[in-house]
Amino acid sequence: MEVIVVKNYQELSEKAFEMLKALIIEKPDATIGFATGSTPVGLYQLMVKDHLINQTSYQKMTAFNLDEYIGLPQNHPESYYTFMRTNLFNTLDVNFDQVYIPAGDARDIVAEGQAYEVLLDKYPIDFQILGIGTNAHIGFNEPNTPLDSLTGVVDLTEDTIKANARFFENDPSQVPTQAISMGIASILKAKKIVLLASGASKAEAIYNTIHGPVTAEVPSSALQNHPNVTLIIDEAAASKL
Ligand code: F6R
Repeated sequence: MEVIVVKNYQELSEKAFEMLKALIIEKPDATIGFATGSTPVGLYQLMVKDHLINQTSYQKMTAFNLDEYIGLPQNHPESYYTFMRTNLFNTLDVNFDQVYIPAGDARDIVAEGQAYEVLLDKYPIDFQILGIGTNAHIGFNEPNTPLDSLTGVVDLTEDTIKANARFFENDPSQVPTQAISMGIASILKAKKIVLLASGASKAEAIYNTIHGPVTAEVPSSALQNHPNVTLIIDEAAASKL
């Protein structure tokens, strides 16, 4: 596991952007795995700015997202579909036929998960961007998710519901209690994984990711079993190392 410690959030975003841009220039038809949440927003802003200034093209890219809330329609303001459209895809020249986000309102959610996994096998992810929960979740794989899990339905923990209430008028009762998420094994199929973490609230999770035992209690510890993982973390997130 490579660990890059940078000064602050701005440097974290720049470092991640540098790596992603190098890949898309070298391999315009790369498959990129995207995350939502606050952490990758700085990276996405740099991608948008660079695309507008330098016309870096994402037309041939295939894109996957890690997860989606169950029960929210695509056009809900807090769906991850809306998040990705607003923060990234609407401004880039993506081919929307090659953009995959699990449908949280699918009628048969189990079949949706299975179909997503088939797509992931068809278009293997070259570069997977990850954030991390304060409880060390990756995607929406909460502690004690089996490390061999594939895309499917997951229950959100109280911690995660509380953490995400900030997007739902600070009202935890509005946060969906389930999500459809790429599983831990699905994430580990990516050729390269880049995990971003910023702030002291992530410091313990980062310590356990790197130094803890590989255990389902710490979902991110599974990354120790992957041959090509880079952590880009700021000094606050690195403060317990
Ligand atoms: C988002 C996701 C989550 C977040 C994590 C951190 O698609 O899968 O694992 O990456 O909850 O969220 P932030 O970045 O908001 O701290």
